[in-house]
Amino acid sequence: MPERTVTVLGIETSCDETAAAVLRLTNGKSEILGETVRSQTEAHAPYGGVVPEIAARAHADLADFSVARAMEMAGIGYDGLDGVAATSGPGLIGGVLVGLMTGKAVAQAADIPFIPINHLEGHALSPRLTEDCSFPYLLLLVSGGHCQFLEVRGLGDYTRLGTTIDDAAGEAFDKTAKKLGLGFPGGPAVERIAETGNPSAVDLPRPLLNRPGLDMSFAGLKTAVARAADEGADPADLCASFQAAVCDVLAEKTRRALEQTEQKRLVVAGGVAANKAIRAALDAIAEAAGARLIAPPLRYCTDNAAMIALAGAERLAAGLAPADGLVVRARPRWPLDEVSAMQNPAYGGGKRGAKA
Ligand code: KG4
Ligand code: ZN
Repeated sequence: MPERTVTVLGIETSCDETAAAVLRLTNGKSEILGETVRSQTEAHAPYGGVVPEIAARAHADLADFSVARAMEMAGIGYDGLDGVAATSGPGLIGGVLVGLMTGKAVAQAADIPFIPINHLEGHALSPRLTEDCSFPYLLLLVSGGHCQFLEVRGLGDYTRLGTTIDDAAGEAFDKTAKKLGLGFPGGPAVERIAETGNPSAVDLPRPLLNRPGLDMSFAGLKTAVARAADEGADPADLCASFQAAVCDVLAEKTRRALEQTEQKRLVVAGGVAANKAIRAALDAIAEAAGARLIAPPLRYCTDNAAMIALAGAERLAAGLAPADGLVVRARPRWPLDEVSAMQNPAYGGGKRGAKA
């Protein structure tokens, strides 16, 4: 079979990272030729969370520069691209629009296909950036905006097995940190302080743990943490107890998901996957189930454009890029598995708009 190579520019702007990457896919093997991720953490830090308007402005300021930088690193001209992929949802609509318009403009100017990508598909495929991770596998996506189990059977073939019915786990970390005045983003700060605390000191709920199924909930835990803080709980003990509660929920739901799907590969992605206690808990669960835990390097666990470029390249190579990419609109909500989402229309509230 002749070698098939596609080179794709990817753009990601759906939350608070402005990212661009150039990726070359040759017979299923990917090579990142250039990539840049600009985080807006400092701009949002005073507010203890991502402010959509600030994010949109920052993306507008940085998008062109990011694309130019990724192209420069790749050392190719626009005529060296076979397609442009950009996140077109779900996410904060202002930011999504910036990336989408930038991507469409480049595609139109270079007269190449534009491939709109679901941000969740990017995360779902992210282990394939660095690992020989063939389909199928079970994915736990756990970040500030998402917390869900996906069975990834192939390109474009995903089933959502369960999701948070309210907040994402990362959001609970961020809110805990905000309550305790630990700064933003909260996850790393909570993890650091938890190391010196007693995980059984504060009695916290494990929402939905004893209910069947793979759905999760973190809003009640967040409220319980706030109450314990108001009642004067020691911050280190509270962080340790909170982290233990999140670990217990994720571990038990993951155990069930592995049992239900009989998958032998468990991929964990999203910013919360950086948490060492959570990783250790998932590792133990995977081992007990005879499965392997695959955790992409942190820079590909969190939001990045390489995963968007990969999704675009895989779609282009497989003939799965839409013919009408240029007319696709930005979607604040866009479940990866529309069938499961339709069956559970109650899911998906919240200001980050990306939980569906
Ligand atoms: O994937 P990500 O960079 O962005 C999206 O939310 O899409 O994830 C960021 C989230 C934040 O909520 C942050 O607090 C959390 O991941 N996080 C952590 C850790 N590092 C980042 N949560 C727990 N422990 C960590 N070490
Ligand atoms: Zn993400």
